[in-house]
Amino acid sequence: MSENIVVVGANSGIAEALCRLLAERGCRLILAGRNLDQLERQAADLRIRYRAEVAIESFEALDFCSHPSFVDRCVRHFARDVTGFIVCYGYLPIQEETQRDGVTLRKAIDTNFTSVACLLNAAAAYLETRKAGYLAAISSVAGDRGRQSNYAYGAAKAGLSSYLQGLRNRGHHAGFRVLTIKPGMVDTPMTAGIVKAGSPLVSSPARVAQDIDRALRNRRDVIYTPGYWYYIMSIICNIPERLFKRLRL
Ligand SMILES: NC(=O)c1ccc[n+]([C@@H]2O[C@H](COP(=O)([O-])OP(=O)(O)OC[C@H]3O[C@@H](n4cnc5c(N)ncnc54)[C@H](OP(=O)(O)O)[C@@H]3O)[C@@H](O)[C@H]2O)c1
Repeated sequence: MSENIVVVGANSGIAEALCRLLAERGCRLILAGRNLDQLERQAADLRIRYRAEVAIESFEALDFCSHPSFVDRCVRHFARDVTGFIVCYGYLPIQEETQRDGVTLRKAIDTNFTSVACLLNAAAAYLETRKAGYLAAISSVAGDRGRQSNYAYGAAKAGLSSYLQGLRNRGHHAGFRVLTIKPGMVDTPMTAGIVKAGSPLVSSPARVAQDIDRALRNRRDVIYTPGYWYYIMSIICNIPERLFKRLRL
């Protein structure tokens, strides 16, 4: 049966690759984000390439009050039959700026945590009435342990991972599923100039998208992508704090 999926932050590097896989397997899509011109071009490409049914919707993460009506528009578009919401947007600040400037710090926390929690609340309320479907959101391995080089972003993602965990527990009893996605380093506009494409620990968006698509089909709870990040983070999380604080990470 064809799925009706809302992808929020659909023009992000990872989401773009994921949308291609979803369209290829016959899902109907709403691509949501704030750059409507880019979303329209992306939708046109998916329609031509895969004959997919694709619509676009405007979404601004920091406009919290608009989230319930955004969810409502998506639900009405799919005639009250949304299979899943996949949240893919995010913001990677320069850590030093978050230390100097409260506005940047707040933007990092609000974009990566508060707004996602707020959006998921509205989507969960809908799925609770449907008693089926899923929520999925991209967190990060950066949330597994705070490091001096990116702890503002990492703290927001840690909050998100924890929120998703609680939501999964609620969803289990209410009839919907929750997938937490924890990528390592991915070669996208977010990391341009920070990570080097082609280096061994940097993955392509296509590789990460394949893992996400498989996790959705296999009804997984939490994934690290690529999977070897699970082992890397197990080692990092097991370093005693008195040693960890001395490292320059
Ligand atoms: N790349 C990595 O190494 C990596 C690693 C771990 C986790 N992640 C996570 O993976 C997800 C996708 O990241 P990516 O690497 O694919 O990033 P990306 O290509 O840089 O895309 C970021 C997306 O977030 C959207 N966005 C930012 N602020 C927004 C706001 N206020 N309202 C609506 N949309 C907003 C951007 O929209 P505009 O185009 O309109 O700016 C863009 O679509 C993010 O959650 C990121 O934190 C990435």
